[in-house]
Amino acid sequence: MEEYRKALTVWYDHAKRDLPWRDSHEPYQIWVSEVILQQTRIQQGTEYYHNFLRLFPDVISLANASEEEVLKAWQGLGYYSRARNMHHAAKTIQSTNNGVFPADYNSIKKLKGIGDYTAAAIASIAFGLPYAVVDGNVYRVLSRLFGIFTPIDSTAGKKEFYQLAQLMLDPGRPGDSNQALMELGAIQCLPAQPLCLGCPFSTNCYAITNQCIDSFPVKSKKTKQKERYLNFIYLHHKNKLFLEKRGDKDIWRNMFQFPMIETNAPTSPEEVMVSKAWETLFKNSSITIESVYPERIHLLTHQRLHIRFFSVKLNENSISGRLIVAEHGEISKYPVPKPVENFLLEIGH
Ligand code: ADE
Repeated sequence: MEEYRKALTVWYDHAKRDLPWRDSHEPYQIWVSEVILQQTRIQQGTEYYHNFLRLFPDVISLANASEEEVLKAWQGLGYYSRARNMHHAAKTIQSTNNGVFPADYNSIKKLKGIGDYTAAAIASIAFGLPYAVVDGNVYRVLSRLFGIFTPIDSTAGKKEFYQLAQLMLDPGRPGDSNQALMELGAIQCLPAQPLCLGCPFSTNCYAITNQCIDSFPVKSKKTKQKERYLNFIYLHHKNKLFLEKRGDKDIWRNMFQFPMIETNAPTSPEEVMVSKAWETLFKNSSITIESVYPERIHLLTHQRLHIRFFSVKLNENSISGRLIVAEHGEISKYPVPKPVENFLLEIGH
């Protein structure tokens, strides 16, 4: 392991990115940077980091801030509970330790919102303590390098990767050693199309040797992607478009769209025209679909949307009263889902 550790830190010393918190051994600053980086990528994270430290330069100023001020500084990052937890932890440090950040792993981990990862990052980077960090980058690098097939989302996997990360830790420079492994995953050993050229392990990596980079890391549960088939009825009459408002339960809450008929599988215009939803929309009038636009796929985090637009020209008497009428040019007033926005642009609205 000694050679691996050495190769890693040598690589890190010349390849690492110049990031603002890399100059710091201040536990407060390391804490802020690590929590922000759990939320976002480096570039956006750096802006939030500077702003957060400008507003709350130390534990005491964070503890004394109002919750609104802290949430405002976090606005746009999401997961507001992380900001609330930091605020809570700062108050704890203020009241129990006079604002001095605790300097041992167990005390750090007791703080609200600080788990194994953040505690190990602060302990190693700020205090030089030998605790290995394991994040998504570390799982990917280690599984590829050593050919580990144990699923990372299993108890056995978590233990095995933690032990291996601990072996990879250079006890002389634990902070740099941890950051080196994460950095390798962030800039070299990328999830797709890793840059193996220039990787310090290109000659002894299991995944390169066996040409199976894409097989790692192994997960036991595949994140299920739900397939959905959304058929939008592009309803128009002269210069008017007809919309409905979405409900507040599903995706795209309370936004506006063309009347939509969801099916369990790809569907033909004929099937759409005999569906219950079609009947509800047009009662017994003899409205028909005049053309169909090609399917487009829209990806959400856990859903794959198969989207089709069916063009339907209305006549004067067949307009359903429950729909919203938007004149040409008015449509931009309505918040619409991204694929509807794209479609409207395509057809010149
Ligand atoms: N990702 C999260 N924290 C990091 C760090 N300190 N260095 C590199 N990548 C990271």
